[in-house]
Amino acid sequence: MTLRLRLIVIAAAILVAVGAAWLTGLLAGPGGRLGEIADAARPSVGGPFSLVDQDGRTRTDAEFRGKIMLIYFGYTYCPDVCPTGLAAMGQAMDKLGAQAKDVVPIFATIDPERDTPAVMKEYVAQFGPEFLGLTGSAQQVGAAARAYRVYYQKAPTAKDDPNYLMDHSSIIYLMDRQGKYRTHFTHESAPADIAEAVRQALK
Ligand code: NI
Repeated sequence: MTLRLRLIVIAAAILVAVGAAWLTGLLAGPGGRLGEIADAARPSVGGPFSLVDQDGRTRTDAEFRGKIMLIYFGYTYCPDVCPTGLAAMGQAMDKLGAQAKDVVPIFATIDPERDTPAVMKEYVAQFGPEFLGLTGSAQQVGAAARAYRVYYQKAPTAKDDPNYLMDHSSIIYLMDRQGKYRTHFTHESAPADIAEAVRQALK
């Protein structure tokens, strides 16, 4: 994550906090409708996707009902943030032992231009044999990223520079057996905490 992106994220968090405080003051009065309104307004994270795995096969979210998905969006050229997040996911899988068989760790690219299935295959293998690396057309990737409310954008570089970086949000989503959002982590989260949340979700 670049400094610019960090500042955007911080500014957005402040705006949300101020907005929430204002709404609380406005709606918490008689009637007690605040909880109801908050539920209705809560954005849903996740949803259907159709992407292409590291072996070139089409994969959809529906295949993973009954399993826990740990899904992270990033790109293989990422210098530090993505490898850190994926390593945390891999270490969490190791900590789960036999329970890991009910968990699918997914790395979905937001840079399909460079992240072909072959590139993804070599990359995800570094983090564990059970990793699924998903790519696809720009449309497929865009739709999946929108469903998960993932921010991504090519960082400014000289025109046609193939070594461009991507700004992107860095969130590890934990989706339950029904494919519904349960909680999330970042690349800085402790693998033990991720593993514990997965155990809870598997109960
Ligand atoms: Ni990254």
